[in-house]
Amino acid sequence: MAASTLAPVADERIIVDEDYGQVCDRVADLIATLITAKPTAVLGMATGSTPRGVYERLIRLHQRDGLDFSRVTCFNLDEYYPIEAASPHSYHEFMNRVLFSSINCRQWHVPNGLPRTPEAIAEDCLRYEELIRAVGGIDLQILGIGRTGHIGFNEPGSSPFSRTRLVHLDAATRRDAAAGFGGLENVPTQAISMGVCTIMEAKQIVLMASGASKAEIVRAALQEKPTAEIPATYLQFHPNLRYFLDEAAASLCLGT
Ligand code: F6R
Repeated sequence: MAASTLAPVADERIIVDEDYGQVCDRVADLIATLITAKPTAVLGMATGSTPRGVYERLIRLHQRDGLDFSRVTCFNLDEYYPIEAASPHSYHEFMNRVLFSSINCRQWHVPNGLPRTPEAIAEDCLRYEELIRAVGGIDLQILGIGRTGHIGFNEPGSSPFSRTRLVHLDAATRRDAAAGFGGLENVPTQAISMGVCTIMEAKQIVLMASGASKAEIVRAALQEKPTAEIPATYLQFHPNLRYFLDEAAASLCLGT
């Protein structure tokens, strides 16, 4: 695998590859190694465009090399609210389409986006946390990063102690999603998201970022003092986290 030809990064948490495909190769290999060593591994999954290449590779590893997901449990970070699971825009449908319909994972969970009372939502959020705890916690959490610095849908202002809950989406996040929904007016204003604390409890975190549009927020996540204004900065406190970046996403933190 060709690593980046740019100046080496001093920070060993940061792994830079030339392009997105190589980043995905690396992350897929990491996941395959984990599942081979621990067939009952618990994975935290993200949606969005960044991890899609990883999911393509996991499907290939399953179909070509027999990578077995039958005892793996997956928990997704978030879901829009309100949304039907069968909606083409739901994260439930997205995960089914890009991964789960093509591998043999039987236990996969996405927060429930169905409209219901605040009490029912709060109860389901508690249950989501309990389900994660009941299987021993998340072994490896995949994260993307939003331009607002969100992880999951923990937007600016999120507490480091937050847990799975109903959240409001930032205007910038909704604008980024508008094309997929056929217009800003169709993008839900809320979502259900694992909290910062839920994410921080994962034993290992892999944050992926690709492209020049992520360079500034990646730099901020790594270099700004931890602050609620950029929730990804909280990740600096995680003892087992690596940033898998392509050169474009890493361009503002190289050589630091
Ligand atoms: C997705 C999620 C978000 C995305 C982030 C980046 O489940 O929780 O935090 O990871 O918005 O999205 P992309 O990868 O589309 O740039």
